[in-house]
Amino acid sequence: MKTDRLARKGILKIASYIPGRSIEEVQKEYGAKRWVKLASNENLLGPSPKALEAIRRELPNIHFYPEGPSPVLRQALAKTFSLAEGNIVISNGADNLILMIANAFVDEGDEVIMADPTFPVYTNVTQIMGGKPIRVRLQDYTHDLDGMLNRVTRKTKLIFVCNPNNPTGTIVSESSFNQFLSRLPGRVIVILDEAYGDFAEAPFYPNGLDYVKDGKQVIALRTFSKVYGLAGLRIGYAIGREDLIHCLYQVRDPFPVHRLAQVAAVAALADTDHILKSIQLVYEGRRYLYKELEKMGILYVPSEANFIFIDFEKDVEEVFQGLLREGIIIRPGKTWGYPTCSRITIGRMTDNRRFIRALKKILTNR
Ligand SMILES: Cc1ncc(COP(=O)(O)O)c(C=O)c1O
Repeated sequence: MKTDRLARKGILKIASYIPGRSIEEVQKEYGAKRWVKLASNENLLGPSPKALEAIRRELPNIHFYPEGPSPVLRQALAKTFSLAEGNIVISNGADNLILMIANAFVDEGDEVIMADPTFPVYTNVTQIMGGKPIRVRLQDYTHDLDGMLNRVTRKTKLIFVCNPNNPTGTIVSESSFNQFLSRLPGRVIVILDEAYGDFAEAPFYPNGLDYVKDGKQVIALRTFSKVYGLAGLRIGYAIGREDLIHCLYQVRDPFPVHRLAQVAAVAALADTDHILKSIQLVYEGRRYLYKELEKMGILYVPSEANFIFIDFEKDVEEVFQGLLREGIIIRPGKTWGYPTCSRITIGRMTDNRRFIRALKKILTNR
């Protein structure tokens, strides 16, 4: 029998997630170079040395299953944020938590509101559950919270607010988010994705933790993939009211996070030196890139994240291909509906300088 009759309704129509191109992949096409990947917003400072040490110590134990709910990490997070352990659920990346959220809360026909463009996984998981994604175009590269409120219906179940937004790096302010929350009906859950929250510098950046402590109907998502530099280990967590987090435990895999990720995350969480260095690097890189882009007359969206959304005001494919030839991978904006734009991860200063040098070469050789 054909799969279109075997598969659940609608799932074959779901557009798959297109990740940034990996170094392994581009190497096959363009050969071995000193590649730098500025396409997936990883921490180019690398992992915390303490996390590496914790992994080495844990390696002989990998024949044992891990502890299912990652209790040591959960305790450490609870202590760090003065939360109860019941406010926290840990899984193999924020990606997986987003799927768990859809599994727990989205029924067939439910509507899920999100920005356009934003992190595409929100759409995918909604469609997997037979829900309907409602996309609200960004205004001035920023979440249009009023526009999102206008789209709330009796069928609305979830609203995703990606703050800072991927791919544009913009944030919603605390006051506008408070106002937005106060105008939502009680049946709507807001998912505040704070994957890049550690890099936000603006004093008016709202902290998801405050809403959780206030008992608001908000689940905040966090990850060890960005500031903690553990993207390859796949580990993240959600915080929220205990009754909401309980629903996520109901749909959780038994052993979602392996032993190495658990111990590495505990060590990375405690390595404030590495965290601060990583944040400083992004601040410094942001300022450097702004300055250089301005000198070249290139438009960019000021960012609160570890990446910058740049508008080249022409089809970005030529720049993308040119940078690949220079050994630099970026993320072109076509899939987000911005064919002249690109998202660039802020790397180490050597990476940022190399990017600017390559860009100058490509743009002057036109
Ligand atoms: C906004 C946003 N949320 C969630 C994720 C997923 O994070 P994780 O690596 O923990 O799955 C990403 C990854 O890039 C992201 O950009």
